[in-house]
Amino acid sequence: MSRRRVSRYGERAQPEITSGMLVLIIFAAAAILLTVYFICNIEYTPTEDTETDTESGAVTDGGASGGTGTNAEDTAAAEEYITVSVSNSEVYSGYMMLVNYETIFNFDYAEPTVTLYHNDEKSDSYSLATSSISCAASILEYLNNFLDAYAEATGDEGAIINSGARTYEDQLSIMEEYTELYGEDYANAYVAVPGYSEHHTGYALDIASLGSDYDSLWLIENCWRYGFVQRYQAGKEDITKISYEYWHYRYVGAPHAEIMMTTNLCHEEYVDMLREYTIDTPYEFTSSDHGTVYALYFVAASSDNVEETTDVSIPACAEEYKIEGNNVDGFVVTVTVSYGTDETDAEERVTADENTSADAETTDE
Ligand code: DAL
Ligand code: ZN
Repeated sequence: MSRRRVSRYGERAQPEITSGMLVLIIFAAAAILLTVYFICNIEYTPTEDTETDTESGAVTDGGASGGTGTNAEDTAAAEEYITVSVSNSEVYSGYMMLVNYETIFNFDYAEPTVTLYHNDEKSDSYSLATSSISCAASILEYLNNFLDAYAEATGDEGAIINSGARTYEDQLSIMEEYTELYGEDYANAYVAVPGYSEHHTGYALDIASLGSDYDSLWLIENCWRYGFVQRYQAGKEDITKISYEYWHYRYVGAPHAEIMMTTNLCHEEYVDMLREYTIDTPYEFTSSDHGTVYALYFVAASSDNVEETTDVSIPACAEEYKIEGNNVDGFVVTVTVSYGTDETDAEERVTADENTSADAETTDE
């Protein structure tokens, strides 16, 4: 009879797999499989920092005063600058355009004018010398603001516009009349050669008063607050080639009017001065009126061919900008870097200043 020897120790040396161990092994295998699955199926998700903002957001198309600079082409919004493609014809439009004895007005790009007589948009705070007085449509609002403020501050309700926008023929007729009445020298001192008059732009107005409270000093000292400059100042005759005309106001807009006033630069000098500034080294200016910070610079036109365009760079961080032709060789770029106080505050301050100014003048008299 054979006996199978069964060693009890032998049985201990080869332990059997228990059900508990089996469960552990299954769990471990499942964990490994799940890990491999997730590693193989993970997707790349960019963080917010890696997204490219294709809308600049910060820069709005400020356009130019007078309607220029509207062909914005945002080519590098996420970068330091944006590029605006501007037609070279825009050199001849905008409130910054210089028109003087050597810089002719280009009638091809004239802004539409409006007749002020019986115009519902015209303020009642001033009258008109003739029923044909007109101005560029876009500045009527600024003219109203200016002369409303004048009437309120001085009490003079006799302000009158003696001349506004003029055609070439208007200017020729005035030149002939003055030459006949006062002689050629006098006419040349006060009347621009036809084609070279600011009145052609529609941005120039001859303002006087029929009132006994006529305060020409108030107009001169405060015009900048409303975007106007007294164009032909005493002491600048060698530059402008026109004698002192305390009645002739020209709309140039903000911040130009304030800068020209504070620096005592006439239009010719101001346009020349800005030529020295570039986007990298701009002329920086903070309005004393409302604290808005501006950066201004010049961009030369690519050519004098009006069929071509000029690329104008604008800082991408600009709040607003405008591009205006200088009527000579390029563009004045005005960037709003940061806004100052709101309009309400600015208006209140202007009113306060007006009262102070009126008081001071009364004391002086
Ligand atoms: N009186 C100014 C110079 C003009 O005739 O345009
Ligand atoms: Zn004039």
